[in-house]
Amino acid sequence: MSTSVPQTGTSGPPGPAGTTPVLELRDVAVHFGGVKAVDGISLQLESGLIYGIIGPNGSGKSTLIAAVTRLTPLTRGELLLDGRPVHDVAASRLAGLGVARTFQTVRLLPDLTVRANVQIGADARSGDEAQQRRGPAGWLRPRAASPAVAEAVARTRLEGFEDHYPSELSYGTQRRVEIARAIAMGPRLLLLDEPTAGMNQTERAEISALMRSMRTDGLCQLLVEHDVQMMIDTCDYVFAMNSGRLIAQGAPADVVQDPAVQEAYLGRKWRDHARSE
Ligand SMILES: Nc1ncnc2c1ncn2[C@@H]1O[C@H](COP(=O)(O)OP(=O)(O)OP(=O)(O)O)[C@@H](O)[C@H]1O
Ligand SMILES: [Mg+2]
Repeated sequence: MSTSVPQTGTSGPPGPAGTTPVLELRDVAVHFGGVKAVDGISLQLESGLIYGIIGPNGSGKSTLIAAVTRLTPLTRGELLLDGRPVHDVAASRLAGLGVARTFQTVRLLPDLTVRANVQIGADARSGDEAQQRRGPAGWLRPRAASPAVAEAVARTRLEGFEDHYPSELSYGTQRRVEIARAIAMGPRLLLLDEPTAGMNQTERAEISALMRSMRTDGLCQLLVEHDVQMMIDTCDYVFAMNSGRLIAQGAPADVVQDPAVQEAYLGRKWRDHARSE
């Protein structure tokens, strides 16, 4: 059963006794002037599980991910990664702490091949600061791809595309390159903001299977998606947001039926909602 959520205290599925959550949010808020994009969220994410966030457009899902990845400052609250406070850590340091993400819109470097784009993730993982300082000029230099790149390319079924440029790829394939770049970082926590937007059902099922396969590595994943069937097929646990707050959480199939969640979507069919974007 899903549960309606009190707005204070921590929430999330109980982990094994004594374990430290991979990520903990304590009363996190992000306000933009008068807009309370995120307004007091507390939750805990455990390793080896896939979490989902659903909610209507503008409910604060992307802002929550931006807050966790330090791309937007917190108005209040605390972020803990493996029990350590990170709300003052610079975004650029999070990769080294095992946090990777994909964005709601594709963000690949257009002048770099697929291999070089994915290599950026591997460089962040290895902490190759000299390489990162050289920036695109360094990335453009031919060099042997690291094993992390080959592994990420294989996992996302991008073999054969390594020498292509993003503009030569379908939108769905570009999104897979983004996921490959994130995987190449070898994260402990992977945040995916609408990774299957622009993909067909077959491609979505592949991403879902990929995410399920990564649970065995102990990876903690947080997925934002509007496709309710994908959420049910993929996630172990789902949080529902509306107006910056949690309104329900629990097993995916229960949460999507929750009256508060149904009301937040004003009776619109989930698929219709996804298509309207
Ligand atoms: N940089 C910003 N400045 C001002 N307002 C912002 C900013 N970013 C987001 N907002 C506002 O915060 C609210 C939450 O936006 P957010 O993008 O987090 O929603 P979302 O749940 O990801 O929506 P969608 O499903 O459409 O992606 C919206 O009202 C949005 O207009
Ligand atoms: Mg969003």
